[in-house]
Amino acid sequence: MNDLEFFRKKLDLCIGKNIVLIGFMGVGKTTVSQYLSKLSDVKAVEMDQVISEREKMSIPEIFAAYGEEYFRNLETNLLIELQNETNTVISCGGGAALRERNVKEMKKNGRVVLLTASPEEIYERLKDSDDRPLLNGRKNVKGISELMEQRREKYEAAADMIIKTDDKTVPEVCEELVQRLTEMDEE
Ligand code: S3P
Repeated sequence: MNDLEFFRKKLDLCIGKNIVLIGFMGVGKTTVSQYLSKLSDVKAVEMDQVISEREKMSIPEIFAAYGEEYFRNLETNLLIELQNETNTVISCGGGAALRERNVKEMKKNGRVVLLTASPEEIYERLKDSDDRPLLNGRKNVKGISELMEQRREKYEAAADMIIKTDDKTVPEVCEELVQRLTEMDEE
């Protein structure tokens, strides 16, 4: 069996429950979920994308038209709905884990994996993007770092596992994730 087949096999074995990816904007939740789903039979669900398609509006448009609370309620409802899924990697919007209720629903959904990256790295990844309303006026390393600090405790409390993504490739992050999920299953 080559490395890739071995990795796929492991992923199939540990996915039975869903994987819920959380973390700050730009940590790579979407990229990681897409990579995992390309490798195996797991489905990738991008919560922001589902919400945006259903509302027929972009995320900034939803925030502008109805406000953050409305958007957060859509996230809660979607997390509940996704409990019907299996073999799915759910990529949450960066603020989803800040609500206690959402964390409860995530835990029912599967294992919650927090991805992290440094403010410098996040800035590099997001500096040219305009689709994060909560970064308006603070799209610099200091602003990102402050918001990250405000959120850190809640992110860490929600997580069953924390994976640093700085200086790692997407395959490396995925391999670490699968390896650690397998170890959790063996405990
Ligand atoms: C948000 C993160 C965004 C999106 C919305 C709010 C946040 O998702 O849900 O702009 O509060 O951190 P990404 O983490 O996918 O960028």
